[in-house]
Amino acid sequence: MSTFSILRRPRRNRRSPALRAMAAETHLQPSQLIFPLFLVDGKGIKQEIHSLPGIFRYSSDYLLEEIETCIGLGIHNFILFPAVADSLKDTTATYSYHSENFYLNVAQTIKERFPECTLISDVAMDPYSSDGHDGLVKNGKIINDETLPILGKMAVAQAQAGFDMLGPSDMMDGRVGYIRRALDEAGFTETGILAYTAKYASAFYGPFRDALDSAPKSGDKKTYQMNPANRREALLEAELDTAEGADMLMVKPALHYLDVISDLKASSPLPIAAYHVSGECAMLTAACRNGWLDYEKAMPEALLSIRRAGADVILTYFAKDFASRFPGGI
Ligand code: PBG
Repeated sequence: MSTFSILRRPRRNRRSPALRAMAAETHLQPSQLIFPLFLVDGKGIKQEIHSLPGIFRYSSDYLLEEIETCIGLGIHNFILFPAVADSLKDTTATYSYHSENFYLNVAQTIKERFPECTLISDVAMDPYSSDGHDGLVKNGKIINDETLPILGKMAVAQAQAGFDMLGPSDMMDGRVGYIRRALDEAGFTETGILAYTAKYASAFYGPFRDALDSAPKSGDKKTYQMNPANRREALLEAELDTAEGADMLMVKPALHYLDVISDLKASSPLPIAAYHVSGECAMLTAACRNGWLDYEKAMPEALLSIRRAGADVILTYFAKDFASRFPGGI
């Protein structure tokens, strides 16, 4: 006989693994993950990113092997980023749509070899810009409207190479609409747009910029990326990207912006993606490698939290590890 009369006992649903599984509100499957991959020109190159241990820059030969392994594990969605040599960078990012561009050539090979995978690009000037900014720099300022035609050319070249979805990550005003129109005019009506809708001026992109050597040469990205203090402004960006033709909306970073993910999920019928960015993954990896956290438990919990907040899709450097540990999902 219990001495208390407690009618509602939530613990009853937690008694066994089977009960807990039945009552689980959130699940995560490898099919809901997008794995970011870094590409370098050349052959036989596999360099670990020192600030993101376990993640590498690959030349195309190793990259194709890595994609094949990932597909075998149930990861079918990839977002590809190029590490471009300084000698190919200029102020107007012309290499981004050059016909000999290795990123575009390798994308074509990936789609020929693995037509079933979803290949996503990044549309922004920074990997190709000698200024390291996502937009055109004039007199120390990032010029919005003059950037759009460059993004348009880059987008059409990427669609031509066979990317399934383009990811405008530059945060220029009007870029989704501009890119959508450029794609349609060039006949690429089926190429999708995964808009970096609420992309914040975050300190958590550090390891990514190490990977691509793409940090801004001067200043920061605060005049175009969003202020981390703002939540409602994400709704405005979502409204604009939706009106301009985005197929999916993204929040970036993810773990530090779960409220924003939740808001977009509640207010938009579009699929919501969240980018669990390099610095967020690096923090967890560092703690686990120090023995302070248990990777096998902390990694899936972090990903599940992003799903619980409302993300339909997660871009994460842990995609491959998750799929290899939880092939049937969680
Ligand atoms: C660049 C871009 C960035 C990331 C994705 N695309 C960096 C930036 O805006 O400086 C960051 C991703 C990550 O940190 O994992 N347009």
